[in-house]
Amino acid sequence: MASGRRYAGKVALVTGGARGIGAGIVRAFVESGAQVVFCDKNESGGRTLEQELPGTIFFCCDVTQEEDMRRLLSETVQRFGRLDCVVNNAGSHPPPQWPEETSAQGFRQLLELNLLGTYTLTKLALPHLRKTQGNVINISSLVGTIGQSRAVPYVATKGAVTAMTKALALDESQYGVRVNCISPGNIWTPLWEELAASTPQPMATVHEGILAQPLGRMGRPADVAAAAVFLAAEAHFCTGVELLVTGGAELGYGCKASRAVTVEDPGIPS
Ligand SMILES: NC(=O)c1ccc[n+]([C@@H]2O[C@H](COP(=O)([O-])OP(=O)(O)OC[C@H]3O[C@@H](n4cnc5c(N)ncnc54)[C@H](O)[C@@H]3O)[C@@H](O)[C@H]2O)c1
Repeated sequence: MASGRRYAGKVALVTGGARGIGAGIVRAFVESGAQVVFCDKNESGGRTLEQELPGTIFFCCDVTQEEDMRRLLSETVQRFGRLDCVVNNAGSHPPPQWPEETSAQGFRQLLELNLLGTYTLTKLALPHLRKTQGNVINISSLVGTIGQSRAVPYVATKGAVTAMTKALALDESQYGVRVNCISPGNIWTPLWEELAASTPQPMATVHEGILAQPLGRMGRPADVAAAAVFLAAEAHFCTGVELLVTGGAELGYGCKASRAVTVEDPGIPS
Protein backbone atom coordinates (compact mmCIF):
# COMPACT_ATOMS: atom_id res chain seq x y z
CA MET A 1 0.00 0.00 0.00
CA ALA A 2 1.32 3.49 -0.82
CA SER A 3 2.64 5.23 2.27
CA GLY A 4 -0.04 7.96 1.97
CA ARG A 5 -2.77 5.34 2.54
CA ARG A 6 -1.29 3.38 5.45
CA TYR A 7 -3.62 4.95 8.00
CA ALA A 8 -6.17 6.63 5.74
CA GLY A 9 -9.65 7.14 7.20
CA LYS A 10 -8.29 6.94 10.75
CA VAL A 11 -8.11 9.65 13.39
CA ALA A 12 -4.95 10.04 15.50
CA LEU A 13 -4.54 12.23 18.57
CA VAL A 14 -0.99 13.28 19.57
CA THR A 15 0.01 15.09 22.77
CA GLY A 16 3.00 17.43 22.96
CA GLY A 17 2.92 17.76 19.17
CA ALA A 18 4.28 21.31 18.83
CA ARG A 19 7.95 20.34 18.63
CA GLY A 20 10.49 17.53 18.90
CA ILE A 21 9.36 13.92 18.73
CA GLY A 22 5.67 14.90 18.94
CA ALA A 23 5.94 17.15 15.89
CA GLY A 24 7.67 14.31 14.02
CA ILE A 25 4.79 11.99 14.93
CA VAL A 26 2.20 14.54 13.76
CA ARG A 27 3.98 14.81 10.38
CA ALA A 28 4.28 11.04 9.96
CA PHE A 29 0.61 10.41 10.71
CA VAL A 30 -0.37 13.15 8.23
CA GLU A 31 1.82 11.43 5.61
CA SER A 32 0.11 8.11 6.44
CA GLY A 33 -3.22 9.59 5.37
CA ALA A 34 -4.68 9.96 8.88
CA GLN A 35 -6.64 12.89 10.21
CA VAL A 36 -4.42 14.31 12.97
CA VAL A 37 -5.46 16.27 16.04
CA PHE A 38 -2.64 17.39 18.30
CA CYS A 39 -2.27 19.35 21.50
CA ASP A 40 0.47 21.17 23.31
CA LYS A 41 0.74 23.78 26.02
CA ASN A 42 3.01 25.76 23.66
CA GLU A 43 0.42 27.69 21.65
CA SER A 44 2.70 29.47 19.18
CA GLY A 45 4.59 26.28 18.24
CA GLY A 46 1.33 24.39 17.83
CA ARG A 47 -0.29 27.07 15.65
CA THR A 48 2.81 27.26 13.43
CA LEU A 49 2.75 23.51 12.78
CA GLU A 50 -1.03 23.53 12.25
CA GLN A 51 -0.59 26.14 9.50
CA GLU A 52 2.29 24.23 7.94
CA LEU A 53 0.26 21.00 7.81
CA PRO A 54 -3.20 21.85 6.42
CA GLY A 55 -5.91 19.54 7.70
CA THR A 56 -4.35 19.13 11.15
CA ILE A 57 -6.20 20.51 14.14
CA PHE A 58 -4.32 21.99 17.10
CA PHE A 59 -5.63 22.51 20.63
CA CYS A 60 -3.71 24.47 23.21
CA CYS A 61 -3.99 22.40 26.36
CA ASP A 62 -2.13 20.90 29.26
CA VAL A 63 -2.11 17.11 29.67
CA THR A 64 -1.96 17.47 33.45
CA GLN A 65 -5.41 19.12 33.44
CA GLU A 66 -8.20 16.54 33.25
CA GLU A 67 -10.72 19.11 32.01
CA ASP A 68 -8.41 20.00 29.11
CA MET A 69 -8.17 16.32 28.19
CA ARG A 70 -11.98 15.90 28.31
CA ARG A 71 -12.41 18.90 26.01
CA LEU A 72 -9.70 17.66 23.62
CA LEU A 73 -11.40 14.28 23.28
CA SER A 74 -14.95 15.55 22.96
CA GLU A 75 -13.98 18.11 20.30
CA THR A 76 -12.05 15.46 18.37
CA VAL A 77 -14.87 12.93 18.40
CA GLN A 78 -17.53 15.57 17.68
CA ARG A 79 -15.58 16.80 14.68
CA PHE A 80 -14.46 13.49 13.17
CA GLY A 81 -16.89 10.97 14.65
CA ARG A 82 -14.21 8.50 15.70
CA LEU A 83 -10.84 8.01 17.35
CA ASP A 84 -8.37 5.33 16.28
CA CYS A 85 -5.06 6.13 17.93
CA VAL A 86 -3.83 8.09 20.95
CA VAL A 87 -0.12 8.91 21.11
CA ASN A 88 0.89 10.00 24.61
CA ASN A 89 4.09 11.89 23.87
CA ALA A 90 4.01 15.03 26.07
CA GLY A 91 6.66 14.71 28.73
CA SER A 92 9.77 16.29 30.11
CA HIS A 93 13.19 15.51 31.53
CA PRO A 94 14.56 17.79 34.26
CA PRO A 95 18.21 18.86 34.12
CA PRO A 96 20.64 16.34 35.66
CA GLN A 97 20.13 16.12 39.44
CA TRP A 98 21.82 14.02 42.13
CA PRO A 99 19.36 12.26 44.47
CA GLU A 100 19.93 14.86 47.21
CA GLU A 101 19.00 17.63 44.75
CA THR A 102 15.58 16.09 44.04
CA SER A 103 12.43 16.85 46.05
CA ALA A 104 9.15 15.08 46.60
CA GLN A 105 7.35 18.11 45.16
CA GLY A 106 9.44 18.06 41.96
CA PHE A 107 8.94 14.29 41.70
CA ARG A 108 5.16 14.69 42.09
CA GLN A 109 5.04 17.33 39.33
CA LEU A 110 6.97 15.09 36.97
CA LEU A 111 4.69 12.14 37.77
CA GLU A 112 1.69 14.37 36.96
CA LEU A 113 3.14 15.11 33.53
CA ASN A 114 4.97 11.96 32.45
CA LEU A 115 2.74 9.31 34.03
CA LEU A 116 -0.65 10.66 35.09
CA GLY A 117 -1.08 12.78 31.95
CA THR A 118 -0.72 9.57 29.94
CA TYR A 119 -3.03 7.65 32.28
CA THR A 120 -5.77 10.31 32.26
CA LEU A 121 -6.02 10.85 28.52
CA THR A 122 -5.86 7.12 27.87
CA LYS A 123 -8.56 6.30 30.39
CA LEU A 124 -10.88 8.96 28.95
CA ALA A 125 -10.16 7.78 25.39
CA LEU A 126 -10.84 4.09 25.97
CA PRO A 127 -14.61 4.16 25.28
CA HIS A 128 -13.88 5.70 21.86
CA LEU A 129 -10.95 3.37 21.11
CA ARG A 130 -13.05 0.31 21.97
CA LYS A 131 -15.56 1.32 19.29
CA THR A 132 -12.89 1.41 16.58
CA GLN A 133 -10.63 -1.34 18.01
CA GLY A 134 -7.99 1.34 18.07
CA ASN A 135 -4.66 1.57 19.82
CA VAL A 136 -2.59 3.55 22.31
CA ILE A 137 1.09 4.40 21.88
CA ASN A 138 2.95 5.69 24.92
CA ILE A 139 6.29 7.42 24.45
CA SER A 140 8.36 6.00 27.29
CA SER A 141 12.17 5.91 27.40
CA LEU A 142 15.02 3.43 27.23
CA VAL A 143 16.23 4.71 30.60
CA GLY A 144 13.01 3.49 32.22
CA THR A 145 14.50 0.01 31.79
CA ILE A 146 18.29 0.52 31.94
CA GLY A 147 18.42 3.49 34.36
CA GLN A 148 20.22 6.81 33.96
CA SER A 149 22.55 8.69 36.27
CA ARG A 150 21.26 11.85 37.98
CA ALA A 151 17.68 11.23 36.86
CA VAL A 152 15.89 9.26 39.61
CA PRO A 153 12.44 10.89 39.18
CA TYR A 154 12.54 10.82 35.36
CA VAL A 155 13.62 7.18 35.23
CA ALA A 156 10.91 6.23 37.72
CA THR A 157 8.17 7.95 35.71
CA LYS A 158 9.23 6.27 32.47
CA GLY A 159 9.63 2.85 34.06
CA ALA A 160 6.07 3.27 35.25
CA VAL A 161 4.87 4.24 31.76
CA THR A 162 6.37 1.03 30.34
CA ALA A 163 4.85 -1.08 33.13
CA MET A 164 1.45 0.62 32.76
CA THR A 165 1.53 -0.07 29.02
CA LYS A 166 1.79 -3.81 29.67
CA ALA A 167 -0.92 -3.87 32.35
CA LEU A 168 -3.33 -1.91 30.17
CA ALA A 169 -2.57 -4.09 27.15
CA LEU A 170 -3.78 -7.10 29.15
CA ASP A 171 -7.01 -5.43 30.30
CA GLU A 172 -7.90 -3.91 26.92
CA SER A 173 -7.19 -7.01 24.83
CA GLN A 174 -10.77 -8.20 25.41
CA TYR A 175 -11.99 -5.11 23.51
CA GLY A 176 -9.47 -5.45 20.69
CA VAL A 177 -7.62 -2.30 21.81
CA ARG A 178 -3.84 -2.62 21.49
CA VAL A 179 -1.56 -0.74 23.89
CA ASN A 180 2.14 -0.40 23.08
CA CYS A 181 5.01 1.88 23.96
CA ILE A 182 8.08 3.20 22.22
CA SER A 183 11.25 3.66 24.23
CA PRO A 184 13.50 6.12 22.44
CA GLY A 185 17.18 6.44 23.27
CA ASN A 186 18.99 9.69 22.45
CA ILE A 187 16.84 11.63 19.99
CA TRP A 188 18.04 15.06 18.93
CA THR A 189 15.20 17.42 19.89
CA PRO A 190 14.86 20.86 21.51
CA LEU A 191 14.63 19.07 24.88
CA TRP A 192 17.98 17.30 24.33
CA GLU A 193 19.53 20.58 23.19
CA GLU A 194 18.23 22.40 26.29
CA LEU A 195 19.51 19.66 28.60
CA ALA A 196 22.95 19.77 26.97
CA ALA A 197 22.99 23.56 27.34
CA SER A 198 22.41 23.17 31.09
CA THR A 199 25.66 21.18 31.47
CA PRO A 200 29.11 22.78 32.01
CA GLN A 201 30.36 21.68 28.57
CA PRO A 202 27.43 21.49 26.14
CA MET A 203 29.46 20.43 23.08
CA ALA A 204 31.13 17.60 25.03
CA THR A 205 27.73 16.49 26.30
CA VAL A 206 26.34 16.35 22.77
CA HIS A 207 29.41 14.43 21.57
CA GLU A 208 28.98 11.91 24.39
CA GLY A 209 25.30 11.60 23.44
CA ILE A 210 26.25 10.79 19.83
CA LEU A 211 28.84 8.19 20.85
CA ALA A 212 26.32 6.35 23.04
CA GLN A 213 24.86 4.73 19.89
CA PRO A 214 26.74 2.00 18.00
CA LEU A 215 25.10 3.52 14.90
CA GLY A 216 27.16 6.68 15.54
CA ARG A 217 24.38 9.24 15.52
CA MET A 218 21.49 10.43 17.62
CA GLY A 219 18.01 9.50 16.49
CA ARG A 220 15.71 11.92 14.71
CA PRO A 221 12.07 12.61 15.57
CA ALA A 222 11.22 10.94 12.22
CA ASP A 223 12.85 7.70 13.45
CA VAL A 224 10.46 7.55 16.41
CA ALA A 225 7.55 8.67 14.25
CA ALA A 226 8.12 5.82 11.77
CA ALA A 227 7.90 3.35 14.65
CA ALA A 228 4.66 4.97 15.85
CA VAL A 229 2.97 4.72 12.44
CA PHE A 230 4.13 1.10 12.18
CA LEU A 231 2.59 0.26 15.58
CA ALA A 232 -0.68 2.00 14.68
CA ALA A 233 -1.08 0.89 11.07
CA GLU A 234 0.64 -2.45 10.69
CA ALA A 235 1.47 -4.09 14.02
CA HIS A 236 -1.94 -5.77 14.31
CA PHE A 237 -0.62 -8.66 16.42
CA CYS A 238 1.49 -6.53 18.79
CA THR A 239 0.19 -5.46 22.15
CA GLY A 240 2.08 -4.75 25.37
CA VAL A 241 5.23 -4.27 23.30
CA GLU A 242 8.08 -1.94 24.26
CA LEU A 243 9.63 -1.01 20.92
CA LEU A 244 13.20 0.29 21.37
CA VAL A 245 14.22 3.10 19.01
CA THR A 246 17.72 3.60 20.31
CA GLY A 247 20.36 3.04 17.63
CA GLY A 248 21.56 0.14 19.79
CA ALA A 249 22.50 2.32 22.78
CA GLU A 250 21.64 -0.47 25.22
CA LEU A 251 23.97 -3.04 23.60
CA GLY A 252 27.32 -4.23 24.92
CA TYR A 253 29.55 -3.17 27.77
CA GLY A 254 30.76 0.40 28.34
CA CYS A 255 32.84 2.42 30.82
CA LYS A 256 30.31 2.59 33.64
CA ALA A 257 32.25 2.90 36.90
CA SER A 258 32.58 6.53 37.98
CA ARG A 259 35.96 7.95 38.96
CA ALA A 260 34.76 8.02 42.58
CA VAL A 261 34.49 4.22 42.69
CA THR A 262 37.39 2.25 44.16
CA VAL A 263 38.42 -0.01 41.28
CA GLU A 264 39.10 -3.58 42.31
CA ASP A 265 42.14 -5.27 40.84
CA PRO A 266 41.23 -8.86 39.86
CA GLY A 267 44.84 -9.87 40.56
CA ILE A 268 46.15 -10.36 37.03
CA PRO A 269 49.74 -11.63 37.30
CA SER A 270 52.14 -9.09 35.80
N1 LIG B 1 14.60 13.41 23.15
C1 LIG B 1 14.99 12.25 23.69
O1 LIG B 1 16.17 11.86 23.62
C2 LIG B 1 13.99 11.38 24.38
C3 LIG B 1 14.40 10.10 24.78
C4 LIG B 1 13.50 9.26 25.41
C5 LIG B 1 12.20 9.67 25.63
N2 LIG B 1 11.81 10.92 25.24
C6 LIG B 1 10.43 11.30 25.50
O2 LIG B 1 9.82 11.73 24.30
C7 LIG B 1 8.82 12.71 24.59
C8 LIG B 1 9.08 13.95 23.75
O3 LIG B 1 10.38 14.43 24.06
P1 LIG B 1 11.11 15.57 23.19
O4 LIG B 1 12.56 15.32 23.31
O5 LIG B 1 10.46 15.70 21.85
O6 LIG B 1 10.74 16.84 24.10
P2 LIG B 1 10.46 18.39 23.72
O7 LIG B 1 10.55 19.16 25.01
O8 LIG B 1 11.35 18.81 22.62
O9 LIG B 1 8.94 18.36 23.24
C9 LIG B 1 7.94 18.04 24.17
C10 LIG B 1 6.66 18.78 23.82
O10 LIG B 1 5.70 18.46 24.85
C11 LIG B 1 5.04 19.65 25.25
N3 LIG B 1 4.55 19.56 26.62
C12 LIG B 1 5.29 19.51 27.76
N4 LIG B 1 4.48 19.50 28.84
C13 LIG B 1 3.21 19.53 28.37
C14 LIG B 1 1.93 19.54 28.99
N5 LIG B 1 1.81 19.55 30.34
N6 LIG B 1 0.83 19.55 28.22
C15 LIG B 1 0.94 19.58 26.86
N7 LIG B 1 2.12 19.59 26.22
C16 LIG B 1 3.24 19.55 26.96
C17 LIG B 1 6.12 20.74 25.13
O11 LIG B 1 5.54 22.04 25.07
C18 LIG B 1 6.83 20.31 23.85
O12 LIG B 1 6.23 20.89 22.71
C19 LIG B 1 8.87 12.94 26.09
O13 LIG B 1 7.90 12.15 26.73
C20 LIG B 1 10.27 12.46 26.47
O14 LIG B 1 10.37 12.04 27.80
C21 LIG B 1 12.68 11.78 24.64
